[in-house]
Amino acid sequence: MNFSVPILHTILTFGIGNHHGIKPLQTIMDDIEKLKSEAGIAACDFIKNGMKLGLGTGSTVRYTVIEIGRRISEEGLNVVGVPTSESTRVLAESVGIPLISLAESGGLDLVIDGADEFDSDFSLIKGGGGALTREKIVVQSSKSMVVVADDRKQVETLGMFDLPVEILPFEWERTRDRIYSMCPGEVSLRGGSDPFITDNGGYILDCSFGPSISDPKSLETTLLSIAGVVEVGLFVGICDAVVLASNGGVLTLINQLGRLS
Ligand code: A5P
Repeated sequence: MNFSVPILHTILTFGIGNHHGIKPLQTIMDDIEKLKSEAGIAACDFIKNGMKLGLGTGSTVRYTVIEIGRRISEEGLNVVGVPTSESTRVLAESVGIPLISLAESGGLDLVIDGADEFDSDFSLIKGGGGALTREKIVVQSSKSMVVVADDRKQVETLGMFDLPVEILPFEWERTRDRIYSMCPGEVSLRGGSDPFITDNGGYILDCSFGPSISDPKSLETTLLSIAGVVEVGLFVGICDAVVLASNGGVLTLINQLGRLS
């Protein structure tokens, strides 16, 4: 959605809708930010001294990273981290989290990361921030994964959020066309004529499947079989818990088939 500055100002001031008790957009955004911070900070309860942590990417887990830094400096928490993106690396360094590589870690205890959607099987869509490939590499080297989210991310069937797929720039239109042939909606190059470039030098295709992804594992496998696809933003069978913030409070959903149950 693109707003011109005067229209955006009007919406920020008066909100979307009419005068019958609709909250100003700025208030709605503040509420969402509060939920993000509550989920991000609550997830730190899973962290124990000595842990090797995967540090996710995004605006929710950002609060987790900042809280870990605070606990290190104020409470003497002893942990090391592996960042899932350059932006998380910069943030983690700025708050004083000691960083190592995945190879040096010899395996992680816990990854905390955000998600764009999760369903009742704890399957995820990730990659709204474009870091899906590094996120998947890191989480596949971890004994457990906790997702931090607000309740907008909880869905019955995955796919309302456009599925991010990282691809190679080489002959990318061919890769797009192959994906388009199996996608009921649009397949868009993120950034359009000024493409978004991932930390790995790749492009992102945002694929509009709609809320139709009832078998995410098989879709992931099919998409990964297309040459040019680097990684798919479906994370299946890997999330052990979701720390979920809503206006009613923070709830931790434990995956009964996961590694933390
Ligand atoms: C980053 O590439 C993503 O996987 C994020 O974890 C996901 O988009 C959630 O981000 P927010 O917490 O900013 O919504």
